[in-house]
Parts: sequence; C-alpha cells; structure tokens
Amino acid sequence: MFIIKNPYELQCKIKELKLQGKRIGVVPTMGALHEGHLTLVRESKKNNDITIVTIFVNPKQFGPNEDFNSYPRTFESDKNKLEKEGVDFLFYPDINDMYPDGYATSVEVESGIVNKLCGAKRPGHFKGVTTVVSKLFNITLPDNAYFGLKDYQQYLIIRKMVKDLNFPINVVGVPIVREEDGLAMSSRNKYLSDEERKDATLIYKSLLKAKNLIESGEKDAQKIKKTILEILTQSKFSKIDYIEIVDPENLEEVSEINKSVLIAVACFFGKARLIDNIVIKI
Ligand code: PAJ
Repeated sequence: MFIIKNPYELQCKIKELKLQGKRIGVVPTMGALHEGHLTLVRESKKNNDITIVTIFVNPKQFGPNEDFNSYPRTFESDKNKLEKEGVDFLFYPDINDMYPDGYATSVEVESGIVNKLCGAKRPGHFKGVTTVVSKLFNITLPDNAYFGLKDYQQYLIIRKMVKDLNFPINVVGVPIVREEDGLAMSSRNKYLSDEERKDATLIYKSLLKAKNLIESGEKDAQKIKKTILEILTQSKFSKIDYIEIVDPENLEEVSEINKSVLIAVACFFGKARLIDNIVIKI
C-alpha cells in the first residue's frame, strides 16, 4: 500500500493508472476506522481495480464547539487495517496539504436537503463536507465513490453535488453496519463510557419499535416520534438533538405516513453525538 500525503503526487499516479484503463474506487474517511469503513473498502475492492482510502479529519466540517481537537486519531492501527484489506493507496494529507495558506474556495449545495436534520443543528457542516469531498474527488479521480448510509443526509447531498457539478463519478451508498447489539458503528462510539455504551443501544431499539408500529398500520408521525422519545429518555445519559420522520428523497417532514419514510435520530449520550436512521418502505 502506498501512503501519500501530497495531493499532486497522488493525482499524477492516478492519472497514469487511468490511462492504463484501471477503474478507480475511493473511500473518503476521517480515520478511526471500524468495520463500517472496512465494509465500504470491501465494496470498492470488489468493483474496482484500484482502491484509494483517504484519511483526513477535515476542520471545515466541525463547528467551533464541536470535537475537532478530540476526534480520535489512530493512524497506525488504521494503516494496518487497510493494508490487511489490500488497499492500494492511502491518502493521508496534512491540513496544509489540503488547505494551504490563502486557501479560499468552498463548494456549497444550495438545496432544501442541506438545512434539515444535521444541517439544521450543525450550521456550515455540510459546506465543509462538500468542499473537502470535491477536493478529494479532484485529487483521486475516481470512477466510483463509496459512502455509508449511516450518514444518509451526507450521501444525499454528495449525490446532488455530483449531479449538479457533473462529476463523472458513480456515488455508491452502502448499508449501515452495526455492532451485535444493534448500535451503529461510529468513530464517536469511542467517547462512550461503559454505561453510556449500554444505553446507546436504545437508539436502534427505538427505530425498530417505530418500524414495527408503522408496519402494524400506525400512520401518525407524531405518535411514532413520541414513542421514540419515550424509549430514548429511558436513559439518564441521553440528550436528544432531533427525531425526524421525513421523505427519503427530499428530507421534507412527513406527518401522515402513507409512503416510504426515513426516520432519523441524533442523540447525545454523554459527550458523544450519535446519529442513526432507518428507511421504512411502504
Ligand atoms: P467518517 O465519519 O469517517 O465516515 C467515512 C464513511 O464511512 C462515510 O461514508 C460514513 O457514512 C461511513 N460509515 C461510518 N460508519 C458507518 C457504518 N456504521 N456503516 C456504514 N458506513 C459507515 O463521513 C465522514 O467521515 C466525512 O464526513 C467525510 C465524508 C470523510 C468527509 O470528510
């Protein structure tokens, strides 16, 4: 596995490989890799000749009171995991490689899907994401790019950006990978104490309960949200950021459930802000 820090160097190598007709897959990450990330890597390995993983904790997508400084950085163990998976290139730039002095450009999707859910709670977050992902796309020149559906809104926004800006890239959404007890894998799970970790399973439990109610004929979104709230507040550690039931295409709020919906939850357990979601097909 080649480890490359310099954007230009990677871009040159990938250009050469593309001239040889190689299909390129990219998996953008912020590191602290777990099975969720590795599932994206395996998906890329299956469908491309060359797989690039990027590890960059992107300061532009963290708010001033968020966890940029404390975000887990576990480069050695990440590198070993990626080597085992047979990744071809690891792009691991420094902040100055990505945003040198005088850097002044942003990419922003101006659509309703940006200001809802996490976008409403984390102003500027998705602008940071689309800016860095555009740069990563231009540096890695992929045919296919892999994103997890755990970050459903991020996936939707990136798909929109790719369409609007004519990036010649196929964006692939990969289903959520969970721990055995149902908790969605996340680099931020590392912040949880043992007790918080136990209670964090309430998130997926509440989503399954909601699914169950809808499948039994409940159509009132308010009632479903109330049930989720009751389950989450069983924990003394939980602080709810949002519980939303929305249209999976445009993230518009749904009040009466008579077609497929996305139920999305963001909830703090201690200092860990965790997100999860479920799509219920009707
Ligand atoms: P990060 O949180 O490291 O996630 C990298 C990718 O892994 C994202 O596409 C995310 O959706 C996916 N992922 C994380 N946990 C997952 C799980 N349990 N199951 C399936 N996929 C999972 O998302 C980011 O980084 C950043 O915003 C990034 C896109 C790299 C831009 O900085």
